[in-house]
Amino acid sequence: FLAQEAIRTKRDGKPLSEEQIQAFVQGITDESVSEGQIAAMAMAIYFQGMNEQEKATLTLSMRDSGEVLNWQQLDLGGPVLDKHSTGGVGDVVSLMLGPIVAACGGFVPMISGRGLGHTGGTLDKFDAINGYQTKPDNERFARTVKEAGVAIIGQTGQLAPADQRFYATRDITATVESVPLITASILAKKLAEGLDGLVLDVKTGSGAFMAEYERAVELARSLTSVANRVGVKTSALITDMNQPLASAAGNAIEVKLAIDYLTGRHRDPRLHVVTHALAVEMLLQGGLCRTHEQAAERVEQVLVSGAAAERFAKMVSLLGGPTDLLERPEQHLAKAKIIKPLTLADSGLPQQGWVNAIDTRAVGMAVVALGGGRRIASDPLNYAVGLTDLAGIGCKAEADLVLATIHADSEDDWQQAAATLTEAYRIGAEAAPEQPVIYERMG
Ligand code: URA
Repeated sequence: FLAQEAIRTKRDGKPLSEEQIQAFVQGITDESVSEGQIAAMAMAIYFQGMNEQEKATLTLSMRDSGEVLNWQQLDLGGPVLDKHSTGGVGDVVSLMLGPIVAACGGFVPMISGRGLGHTGGTLDKFDAINGYQTKPDNERFARTVKEAGVAIIGQTGQLAPADQRFYATRDITATVESVPLITASILAKKLAEGLDGLVLDVKTGSGAFMAEYERAVELARSLTSVANRVGVKTSALITDMNQPLASAAGNAIEVKLAIDYLTGRHRDPRLHVVTHALAVEMLLQGGLCRTHEQAAERVEQVLVSGAAAERFAKMVSLLGGPTDLLERPEQHLAKAKIIKPLTLADSGLPQQGWVNAIDTRAVGMAVVALGGGRRIASDPLNYAVGLTDLAGIGCKAEADLVLATIHADSEDDWQQAAATLTEAYRIGAEAAPEQPVIYERMG
């Protein structure tokens, strides 16, 4: 096998054979293919695209480059299900969704990632819980999935290693934004979890990875078609990220928000719509409910009864976290030094009209600047910082409207976040029409 011949094939716009794709991915994994060759292939795919067959082969080859989990011998007694989100700000869905689905009889071995750019990462949120092990050994991971029905942990070196090397090269060669490459990258990792069903939350809007609607639809179509083609029941929802999904963003802050949601203390309406809809999709994909109505009712039941909260508590304690996190979250989650609201009057923005647009990416960057996200991969995180009480689109622009309560480590950081938020909020004389939270379902 000559990598340069495969690159030439793709460069000239011809489809790669199954053998060529498998050998190339093998070469990525065993390092017989150089970084330069990976870069050239990524750029050729970026420009020439891939057909459905090629995307499926690339996905499976990358999935099989490492360990593929097999749940059969554990006799779980229910379907193995997961969700993937393309990421956003205040997207704390996974923390509630996993426990909800577990309480409904599904099993969720969720392998999640760190924050990327302006978007938060589920893994960072769990790292904010004292004692919680995001890198347990396989035995503990499996035991948690079996006993709690859900385990949310970090990526391990054995899972789809070809993607790790491929992605690192794409990241530095302007080839991340390719639908076939994103499709294979996301699905290889998810399918290595040994799933029966999968739901995808593809975000669109100012805080989304795929900001434009048509691109989000294209990605959702590609993901659902490839995943179903390789035998995993998959659907996708296109959801709104033109404003933060929840009223808060930050690591410990979002854990607290998830606890409030699960225990019924507080539920942000938009966050609830998305979490509920994704849970319904998972129950249907897993055959746990037959109709949409049944699934919707089941989700409500496990929230009201506290069964979902119990699953969350069990997962946290089985993975080494505190046994009383739900009862006493303040004792186990870090608190920032300065917690102070930014009002519209403080911000200098017009004090009449309505909030009619939010640069959601900028809101995410405010959290990064506070120390709640990374600029480079090696940056340490401050789990305590972030934003709460975020004003949403449609809020009336009165002097005492709180744009956000800023949780900062210093007065300087607070001021800087305040300036970034002020830039992010647009006040208009006319109220913007109400925006849907879910635009479309696919698959
Ligand atoms: N997230 C991934 O995991 N892979 C991509 O290629 C893009 C986003």
